[in-house]
Amino acid sequence: MTETREPLLKVQDLVVTFGMGHHEVAAVAGVSFEIFEGETLGLVGESGCGKSTTGKALMRIIEPSSGTIELDGTDVVAQKGKALRNIRTRMQMIFQDPISSLNPRRRIKDIVAEPLDCWKSVTGNDRDVLVSDLLAKVGIDPKVYGNRYARQFSGGQCQRISIARSLAMRPKLLICDEMVSALDVSVQAQILNLLEDLKHEYGLTLLFIAHDLAVVKNVSDRVAVMYLGRICEIGPADTLYEAPGHPYTKFLLGAALEADPDSPVHGEVLGGEPPSPMNPPSGCRFRTRCPFATEKCAEIEPQLEEVAPGHLVACHYPLTIGTK
Ligand SMILES: Nc1ncnc2c1ncn2[C@@H]1O[C@H](COP(=O)(O)OP(=O)(O)OP(=O)(O)O)[C@@H](O)[C@H]1O
Ligand code: SF4
Ligand SMILES: [Mg+2]
Repeated sequence: MTETREPLLKVQDLVVTFGMGHHEVAAVAGVSFEIFEGETLGLVGESGCGKSTTGKALMRIIEPSSGTIELDGTDVVAQKGKALRNIRTRMQMIFQDPISSLNPRRRIKDIVAEPLDCWKSVTGNDRDVLVSDLLAKVGIDPKVYGNRYARQFSGGQCQRISIARSLAMRPKLLICDEMVSALDVSVQAQILNLLEDLKHEYGLTLLFIAHDLAVVKNVSDRVAVMYLGRICEIGPADTLYEAPGHPYTKFLLGAALEADPDSPVHGEVLGGEPPSPMNPPSGCRFRTRCPFATEKCAEIEPQLEEVAPGHLVACHYPLTIGTK
């Protein structure tokens, strides 16, 4: 399906480097993608591939080294001071560790009110009503629990409180970074259901970052797969799971779907460690772990190319069903 809507978020050639000289690491090494209004884009890949750095660069918690980020037509990278703080209210990030991201010595109604108090956008009784409403929306009774301290809540409840706080300024984009990874499986499902409900109610657009493809599958419209700082495949979730085009995606799915005998993807489980982003391989970054690598793969870096409508793969020899 060719996309005709305007994207809410447009990221072009995003690069984020850490360190200098011989110690320079390109954690994000030229990433481009778009997210359309109301869409959930999943971002997956092994630990250290640059997922969190990408999310933090979008929020400018970490400064991008180069590239462009456009949110709803506004150039995020060019913003400074109040304009930057203003644009940050339109996107919010939820982190992996819900307990440490909340101040344990604050009452939860004050935690949820933090953005409102900071911006003085809503005050007095209106503020209290809004906070109560937000807590109720995430399944926490404000009358019973509003005055309790964050330290009195479990991980799942803290993540609910984080979600309530993130919604206070009515953001358009929510960046969820491993938001359920630290939770028990049953609690994960509750939080994901809550997120889905709130997404519709608040008209949210989501970037859902996780290393677990199985979790991402259930929530994403499209999925981007990252390897060593680059996107190697992006496409509609169903297509990508049923017919992965990049050998790395197939390996990731193989690992995630081993227990499913009906899966169209079997067998191979990814071996070896990814190379250091300080010294990525020439040509295709995946070639040191790819069973299909040829000389061409060492010489020429493959670029993302469309293999089916909306499905892009960066591989000289993209997979099709039944091959490789
Ligand atoms: N502040 C930093 N200084 C130096 N290097 C960093 C910094 N933050 C991240 N890195 C490096 O950048 C790379 C990408 O890290 P990042 O945290 O974005 O990965 P990730 O995909 O989110 O991994 P995980 O699944 O473990 O959360 C890694 O090699 C990491 O060591
Ligand atoms: S370009 Fe070559 S090394 Fe890279 S994934 Fe494709 S076949 Fe493997
Ligand atoms: Mg991370």
